[in-house]
Amino acid sequence: MFVPEKIKISNPRTELTDDQIRQMAMIAVNYFPDEQFLEAVVRHHAGQADTIRLAMEQDRIVGFSIASKYRLMTPFYPRPVNVLYQRMLYLKPGFLYRGIGLLLLSLTLKDLFGWLWPFKRFAAFCRTQNPVVARLMDMYSVSYPHYDQPVPEDVREFAEGLLPLVGAESLDQKFRLAGTLDAFSGMDYTEIWNRYLRRRNNQYEKLMLSSAFEQKDGRVINSGAFVLMIAYAKPLNFVRYLLRV
Ligand SMILES: CC(C)(COP(=O)(O)OP(=O)(O)OC[C@H]1O[C@@H](n2cnc3c(N)ncnc32)[C@H](O)[C@@H]1OP(=O)(O)O)[C@@H](O)C(=O)NCCC(=O)NCCS
Repeated sequence: MFVPEKIKISNPRTELTDDQIRQMAMIAVNYFPDEQFLEAVVRHHAGQADTIRLAMEQDRIVGFSIASKYRLMTPFYPRPVNVLYQRMLYLKPGFLYRGIGLLLLSLTLKDLFGWLWPFKRFAAFCRTQNPVVARLMDMYSVSYPHYDQPVPEDVREFAEGLLPLVGAESLDQKFRLAGTLDAFSGMDYTEIWNRYLRRRNNQYEKLMLSSAFEQKDGRVINSGAFVLMIAYAKPLNFVRYLLRV
């Protein structure tokens, strides 16, 4: 993991300013080209967040993480567990795939669950169209959905209970969240896919190309919905993961 030295991760102590919100929206606009929509999205999630982390290059925001914590019954353990909702995690193009995402995520987990988070049990969920995020979720002990694999019924029931939290009307067979990206439905995403999302031809990319996107006549078309991803980490999962790397 290579994180450029000039990147500092800060933790805003006060409410975000309008200028910070605009900078954050302008990062996400590379992946969802609608500035007004994104300013509203960033403002909404920032208002609900338990932690916000900003990746800074001098005084410019180049990435951010917005997340919340809940305590819920899950299908993974017989008692309530801590649950991370990763609301937004975005880096500016040019800063992708250098480990900054993983660093933002680990500091988010530290903010929510304390320094000992790698030793703890917790679940996580997020809404995404990005195969790298599906890959990140696979670092947990279990994660759903996977390409061409059915999701267990108890995990689907848990997922349906999350619909009010993720602002979706319903969940379909492919774990797509209806009503989350209507404005992008049918949009040609070939360029965004090739430029920012496609990296390795693997099962995570196949998962997204058969749910978040559709392939038509060699083009990649946005299906207009985030995919809900759910994961669960047993105690010591991330310690084991780090020792393996
Ligand atoms: C998603 C995002 C935040 C991840 O941050 P990042 O700094 O680019 O990712 P990292 O460099 O930390 O790498 C994450 C891991 O995924 C792996 N990875 C990267 N691309 C992959 C791919 N296509 N398939 C599988 N694994 C991949 C990396 O190797 C790394 O794992 P490793 O360290 O074990 O090798 C960033 O790519 C991003 O902002 N993407 C565009 C916006 C977006 O879609 N955000 C998510 C919205 S929900």
